[in-house]
Amino acid sequence: MEQEVYHIPALLDETLQGLDIKPDGIYVDVTFGGGGHSRAIIQRLNGDGRLYGFDQDADAMNNAIDDSRFTFVYSNFRFLRNFLRYYGVESVDGILGDLGVSFHHFDDPERGFSFRWDGPLDMRMNRNATRTAAWYVANYTEQELADAFYLYGELKTARRIAAAIVKARQESPITNVEQLLAVVKPFINPRKEKKELAQVFQALRIVVNGEIEALSDFLQQAL
Ligand SMILES: C[S@@+](CC[C@H](N)C(=O)[O-])C[C@H]1O[C@@H](n2cnc3c(N)ncnc32)[C@H](O)[C@@H]1O
Repeated sequence: MEQEVYHIPALLDETLQGLDIKPDGIYVDVTFGGGGHSRAIIQRLNGDGRLYGFDQDADAMNNAIDDSRFTFVYSNFRFLRNFLRYYGVESVDGILGDLGVSFHHFDDPERGFSFRWDGPLDMRMNRNATRTAAWYVANYTEQELADAFYLYGELKTARRIAAAIVKARQESPITNVEQLLAVVKPFINPRKEKKELAQVFQALRIVVNGEIEALSDFLQQAL
């Protein structure tokens, strides 16, 4: 069966240029996703080259490349060093990170990443993680919510959105996308609605997935 392709990989030519691939090198794609970048990398390797593809979303495993030079690692990339050691790799020739979520995530209402359709406020890339976006919306303090919307969503209205969430959740729980939209929309500029809603969702997603902490751990190990 033909492999599902999620989308055209972002900045593919630039990525390949930046990696400057040696045919017998060892490469790591820490955000494997649909495998678009990885497929292009493996095409440039010879029989001695190796590619490791990390993803914390089990769905990405369905796209794993059927090739003896490829290893799929079902893990957060914050454990990069441990897993590479496990596979006997002490140094690599190049690492690619295409951060964030994939189109696959945005297109699935059940995952709750998109404001375009209703669904549970989930937003976990790793569905074994315990805390969903609904948990943070219910349990984060007003200050923590405001900080998240300001720091990770760059929203000037961060404080007002946080206050509105805290007020609304005292009346009834906010567990799905439509309920959250009803609370935050009054603070969104209608002329920039899509952009600002995307910023609200991005902020929550970054919190839910501990993206800043993971990136920090990964970058230190990548050195
Ligand atoms: C933008 S997509 C990558 C798309 C990929 N480059 C392609 O060509 O299909 C990001 C992927 O990285 C994964 N991801 C994000 N943060 C991660 C992390 N900390 N550890 C492991 N995987 C992560 C997501 O689950 C998602 O599948």
